Amino acid sequence: MGQNEIKLSHISEILKCIPTSLLIVDKNKNIIEANPSAKKLLGKNIESRTLDEIFFGREQDIFDKVLQGEIIQREKIELDNTLIGFSASPIYDNNSIITGASIILRDLTEIREIDESLRRRERLAALGEMTAGMAHEIRNPLAAIKAGIEYLSRDFKDDSKGYNYIKIILNEIGRLERIVKDMVAYASQRPSNKSKIDLKDVIETTLMTFQEQLREQDIKVKKYLKGELICMVDEDELVTVVTNLLLNALEAIEKDGTIEISGEEEKNNIKITLKDDGGGIPEDILPKIFNPFFTTKHRGTGLGLSIIHRIIQNHSGTINASNEKRGAIFTIIIPKGI
Ligand SMILES: Nc1ncnc2c1ncn2[C@@H]1O[C@H](COP(=O)(O)OP(=O)(O)OP(=O)(O)O)[C@@H](O)[C@H]1O
Ligand SMILES: [Mg+2]
Repeated sequence: MGQNEIKLSHISEILKCIPTSLLIVDKNKNIIEANPSAKKLLGKNIESRTLDEIFFGREQDIFDKVLQGEIIQREKIELDNTLIGFSASPIYDNNSIITGASIILRDLTEIREIDESLRRRERLAALGEMTAGMAHEIRNPLAAIKAGIEYLSRDFKDDSKGYNYIKIILNEIGRLERIVKDMVAYASQRPSNKSKIDLKDVIETTLMTFQEQLREQDIKVKKYLKGELICMVDEDELVTVVTNLLLNALEAIEKDGTIEISGEEEKNNIKITLKDDGGGIPEDILPKIFNPFFTTKHRGTGLGLSIIHRIIQNHSGTINASNEKRGAIFTIIIPKGI
C-alpha cells in the first residue's frame, strides 16, 4: 500500500467518526456519499436520493451556484423543526472540471435553544433594571404623598365622609408601597446570605404571621414535616418564598378551605410542597405563571411567583406547579448544600 492510499483510508475512517455531517453529491445533485452523522441527521436512506428531495426543492439556486464553482458558507435551512446550518463547495477532478459538491451540515437546534434562553435572560435583566429604576422613582413621591395625607387627616373627624376618603387613599398608598416593594425584591440582585437553616422553622415562623388572616378566611393548615429539613439557604429569601406561596393559596381559596404543607429529605435535597384546595390553575396559563407581571388578578402585580422562581434558581433548586383533583400544588426542591 502506498502512502497516499494509507492516507485516503484514514480519511474515510475519520469521516465516519467525526460528529460533523458530510454529503458528497454528483453534478446532478444525486447523493453519492453520506457519512454516519449525515445519515443520523437526514435519515438512513439518503444515499439513494437527490439533494432537491432532501431539501424539498428549496435552496436549489444555491446548490446550482456551487456546481458552477461558488463556495457558500453558513447558510441555514429549517427541516422538520430542525434548524440545519450548511456550507458547500465544488469538487474538481484532475482537469479542474467540476464533478460534484461537498456539503457540510450541522444541527443548530440546540444552539438555537441556548440562544433563545440567553436572549430571555437578557430581556429579564433589562426588565429588572427598568423595574428597579421605576420603583426608585415611585417610592419618593409616594412617601411624600403619604406624609401629606396623614397630616391632612388630622383636620377630619373620625367618622366624617372626608376621613373615609382619607382612609381609602391611605389604603391605596399601602397597596402601591407593597407593589414597589415587590418590584424592588424582583429587581434586586443582592448576593444571597446563606446559612444552615431548618426549613421547618421558616415554615412555622411564616405561618405565625398569617394566623389572623387564616382564621378570618376559615382556612385550616395541615403540616406534614418529616425530620429535620436543614439546608444552606438565605433565610429571608426562603421566608419570601413561603409567604408568596401562602398569599396565592389564600387568594385562591378565598373562604373555607385547607392548605397542606409537606416537607421531607429526598437524597441530597429538601422537598417542600404546598397544596391548596382553591380553584386550581387553568392549564392554558400554567406555562406563564412564573413570568414577571403575569397575573389573572384584578389587584395583582404578577411578581409573586417570578420572585420565588428567581430565589429558587439562586439556590440551584427547582419549582414546579401543577393541579391536583382540587386546587394547585407547588413543589420546591432545594439541594441541601451541606
Ligand atoms: N395557588 C394558586 N391557585 C390558582 N392560581 C394560582 C395560584 N398561584 C398562582 N396562581 C396563578 O398564577 C398567577 C401569577 O401568580 P403571582 O403570585 O406571580 O402573581 P399574583 O398573585 O397574580 O400577583 P402578586 O403575587 O404580585 O400579588 C396568578 O395571577 C394566578 O392566576
Ligand atoms: Mg401572588
